[in-house]
Amino acid sequence: METIILAAGKGTRMKSKLPKVLHKVSGKPMLEHVIDAAKSAGSTREVVVIGSGAELVKKTFSEVEFVMQEEQLGTGHAVLCAKEKFANSTGTVMILCGDTPLFTGELLKNLIDAHEKFNAAATVLTAIMPNPKGYGRIIRADNVDFEKIVEDKDANFEQQKIREVNTGIYCFNVQKLFDALEKVTNDNAQGEYYLPDVLEILRAEGGKICAVVAEDYRQTLGINSRIQLAEAEKILRQRKNAELMLSGVTIIDPATTYIDFDVEVGQDTIIYPNTYLEGKTKIGADCVIGPSVRFTNMIVGDNVTAQFSYCHDAEISDGVTFGPYVHVRPNTKISANVKIGNFVEIKNSNIGEGTKLPHLQYIGDTDLGAGCNIGCGTITVNYDGKQKYRTKIGDGVFIGCNSNLVAPVNVEDGAYIAAGSTITEDVPKNNLAIARARQVNKNSWKDKRG
Ligand code: UD1
Ligand code: CA
Repeated sequence: METIILAAGKGTRMKSKLPKVLHKVSGKPMLEHVIDAAKSAGSTREVVVIGSGAELVKKTFSEVEFVMQEEQLGTGHAVLCAKEKFANSTGTVMILCGDTPLFTGELLKNLIDAHEKFNAAATVLTAIMPNPKGYGRIIRADNVDFEKIVEDKDANFEQQKIREVNTGIYCFNVQKLFDALEKVTNDNAQGEYYLPDVLEILRAEGGKICAVVAEDYRQTLGINSRIQLAEAEKILRQRKNAELMLSGVTIIDPATTYIDFDVEVGQDTIIYPNTYLEGKTKIGADCVIGPSVRFTNMIVGDNVTAQFSYCHDAEISDGVTFGPYVHVRPNTKISANVKIGNFVEIKNSNIGEGTKLPHLQYIGDTDLGAGCNIGCGTITVNYDGKQKYRTKIGDGVFIGCNSNLVAPVNVEDGAYIAAGSTITEDVPKNNLAIARARQVNKNSWKDKRG
């Protein structure tokens, strides 16, 4: 199965610097949703027609082929640009639009099955839209057999009332498609070469045209504006939440839970409101996440408890508890059963098993061992204004409150650091380091001052 995906349009109605098909829905570019659905329906080759913002689109995708459409003269012209790539193809080609990201692979599979079962020259997926404005309308002879598609801008008053629309999703006999495309003209309201005109041409030549109605119009919505982008986002959000709940995840309030398409969550995890699970985040079983947690590209184990926190591009192992108000930044690995309290920031660091960071720490560029107790207000001083340095702390280290560890510095296993120390030199194993001025009490100082 081969697929052509149209993605060369400017996306004028988005009013954006970014090509339309790169706008994200549910955490990934809409074009990626389309490519993924095609692959899951059994497509083995995807040819993407690009034009506006072509370089950026090319950079974003690696596993597809590209064809340039230098001037955007319409969807029919766009497909024609791919003609050479299909010179040796036979059988069925699927055509999809890069701005229709809501359908599943299953929907495409059903369309392909119908197309092949009826041995059609072309099959178009249609949908009954509550608001058909902007879509091409399906004209059926005597309300039964497919006759043609009339674009919104070309439709007369009566045709505009039709709610059955062209979804822009088709299967074609590949050689019939390219032959018919040569005959398409641009004699219409937009002066464009319309792909849907091919259907009328093939029909006139005696080809069989199937128009299959989608069960759920919400899978076929096209995105032309940011209002439609937000509608698509909402549909995918509801679908994702429903999928997770059906697989055994508790979501306290789906209306305020934002989980991206590719996120995975394990069984019996409970998600509290106002939580965002984004990108490629994977969460294990039996966790309690939220309220108000944002995880972006996080790998999280089982039995993790997190609230009111933001963590991105990092790994958290089983049994870790943290929050409120924790910021975990990229390249951080937190081992099992670590306890992190409130107002803690960790960056580019490894935290050993069972270590406690209960309150108000900054841990940056640090390898921190297992079973340590890090006092309130501890800071790794990792930056001298020019360069960053690492701090190394062994296992079973106790650091008193309000200490500074000036990197590069090495605190060996079992060492103690007295509260309020500013450590600038290595501390050997099992030593106590005190690095602060001794206290002086001035006897009766107040009386003498007068
Ligand atoms: C198109 C269909 C319409 C259908 C709707 C479904 C045509 C003429 N109209 O309308 O019947 O109801 O989709 O969503 O096909 N593109 C190119 N090159 C071009 C023009 C467009 O690659 O020269 C691409 C766009 O990037 C986009 C897709 O084709 O991904 C559809 O184009 P768009 O302008 O959005 O068409 P619609 O007006 O939505
Ligand atoms: Ca469109």
